[in-house]
Amino acid sequence: MSKITAAITAVGGYVPPDLITNQDLEKMVDTSNEWILTRTGIETRHVLRNAEFSDMGMAAVNQLLEKRGIKATDIDLLICCTVTGDMIFPASSNIICDKIGAKNAWGFDLSAACSGFIFGMETGAKMVESGKYKKVVVIGGDRMTSIIDYTDRNTCIIFGDGLGAVLLEPNEEGLGVIDSILHVDGSGRQFLHQKAGGSSNPPTRETVDARMHYVYQEGKTVFKFAVTNMAEVSHQIMERNNLTADDVAWLVPHQANKRIIDATAERMGIDSSKVMLNIQRFGNTTNGTLPLCLWEWESKLKKGDNIILSAFGGGFTWGAMYIKWAYGE
Ligand code: UT7
Repeated sequence: MSKITAAITAVGGYVPPDLITNQDLEKMVDTSNEWILTRTGIETRHVLRNAEFSDMGMAAVNQLLEKRGIKATDIDLLICCTVTGDMIFPASSNIICDKIGAKNAWGFDLSAACSGFIFGMETGAKMVESGKYKKVVVIGGDRMTSIIDYTDRNTCIIFGDGLGAVLLEPNEEGLGVIDSILHVDGSGRQFLHQKAGGSSNPPTRETVDARMHYVYQEGKTVFKFAVTNMAEVSHQIMERNNLTADDVAWLVPHQANKRIIDATAERMGIDSSKVMLNIQRFGNTTNGTLPLCLWEWESKLKKGDNIILSAFGGGFTWGAMYIKWAYGE
């Protein structure tokens, strides 16, 4: 019997309709459209209003189920990768399962910031490879605007809301998740974090007044770590799988900063025409960037395409994953 691999068989996505433009931000903080464009590549980001994070999950998973022609009750496991779920607990995976009617699924949330989707894919793939689970949904998404300080020009220009979801199913043709390299380095926590809200600093009047519930980032330091590690791990996974730049059909990079994406592609020798890029419209949706790329590019992907996912995020967390696409002409 051939080895079971875990292949993506459908992709869903959701971005809320409302936008925050660079011109909107010019009115909130001391910044300019030109600075944001040249330093990050971002023009607009989406913002979720009058709805919950889990509503984005519900929309994306329902779309995915419709594409695949299956019911919510067919889902065995739902992994929700996020740092901005509806509540600290219960997990948003539970809430999404309830909202879509996934009565036979169990699930959990996974916290790895911007690398969450790759970590979730690794976890979901192993569940499928075990033979026990046949239909595993991996969601990556965030409602970053709920934890962004719109008086802090260092962070408010970058982040937006959005969410993507994939279905993983067993494959016996050798397609799907082939390899991954994943890392964490908790000593990086000082450079990118949300200080309060957890058990170290529970919410108080003081923590709110000190704006400790918002994202804190030392941009320049994070930038340096991100450029080096994302480029290196992406190059490593190519080498380890004997892939040349010509063999790679697509690079799916975390969308944090266009300059980080360009540096990663350059280290891999990948032409920009093979790099999925939607940062200009969505900004950094944290856990959402990779599945939203797959969602937007799905119709261009062909069976057998070699695809490299690559990410770096708060924690620090980083990694790369090699997948062989399983459908499409
Ligand atoms: O997704 C998770 C991982 N996160 C990342 O990968 C993000 C990595 N970091 C970045 O993308 C970049 O560091 C930023 C976009 C956050 C900042 O860009 P930068 O080129 O690293 O700028 P900087 O922080 O070195 O700041 C350069 C200058 C400073 O002014 P001085 O000190 O040189 O006078 C900043 O105060 O630009 C200033 N500045 C701004 N000016 C206009 C910082 N933010 C802004 C702004 N508008 N929004």
